[in-house]
Amino acid sequence: MSSGNLDRSLVMEAVRVTEAAAIAAWRLAGRGDEKAADQAAVDAMRTALNELAIEGVIVIGEGERDEAPMLYIGEKVGQGGGPRIDIALDPLEGTTLTAKAMANALAVMAWAPAGTLLNAPDTYMDKIACGPGLPAGVIDLNKSPADNVAAIAKAKGVDASEVTVCVLDRPRHADIIASLRQVGARVHLITDGDVAGVINTADPDTGVDLYLGQGGAPEGVLACAALKCVGGQFQGRLVFRNADERARAERWGITDLDKIYDLSEIVRADAIFVATGVTNGALLQGVKFEKGFVHTDSLVMNSSTHTVRQVRMKRAL
Ligand code: FBP
Repeated sequence: MSSGNLDRSLVMEAVRVTEAAAIAAWRLAGRGDEKAADQAAVDAMRTALNELAIEGVIVIGEGERDEAPMLYIGEKVGQGGGPRIDIALDPLEGTTLTAKAMANALAVMAWAPAGTLLNAPDTYMDKIACGPGLPAGVIDLNKSPADNVAAIAKAKGVDASEVTVCVLDRPRHADIIASLRQVGARVHLITDGDVAGVINTADPDTGVDLYLGQGGAPEGVLACAALKCVGGQFQGRLVFRNADERARAERWGITDLDKIYDLSEIVRADAIFVATGVTNGALLQGVKFEKGFVHTDSLVMNSSTHTVRQVRMKRAL
């Protein structure tokens, strides 16, 4: 290991973990049972993590210890004796997508040196993100959707009508969607899966320029790890709906409840991000069983080496 970064060879260890989760989840895709698909992914991910020579701690996981028996926040994973790693994971990002065999479900995980990932509570987060190559500070969560579209349009030298904004299709986003359309922006609605939604801003092939809206805070940390590897900007503000959620935040040492976190405060060191497709999607192909083999398609990224690799795996069943 050098200067606190995780060893580059760990990316290949990490991808085996999301491959295992994706394969397990895919076996239950389209069966209409979100819980079973999620549980299969959790079990497979935990087993794979515990085979590795790492000293891992779950920072973003399936929930707090009293509500999640496995991969709960604070759980130690790995055989020990290796690097000390903060782990953020979502064994099945898109439980509904998987249960309905719809596009874009992923198994995702991020690793960073111990103590460098934000301990985000399991609440919502207001998020804004854009891809690389734009002036620092071009996006601002304190500004209106219209102002952010105008800033992106100006930075890209295009009209607002050429700006595409990805938003989760939820009633809570009705005002955001209306104001985006009012300034002429194109709104790309997704039914689930805002980790991929944020990553799309860094992939010119998707045509998405900006991500806006409220989704899970854990997914926000995972998306930040990915954006740190591929470039881009992100801001997030935790959203607390009740006293219980505020108490959770305090338990994790969060005192300023209105704070806007920048990407560099959410992921405070170089990180590894891995994702494996469960169902076919814009980012990755889904798992495929064919003629005695299982195929997976994964992204492996390392922010310290600025590498993004696509890894196709084929294994005899
Ligand atoms: P799950 O896979 O845990 O169901 O999450 C899917 C997801 O769409 C996330 O990508 C997103 O952050 C969150 O749900 C949004 O929450 P909600 O469905 O409550 O709007």
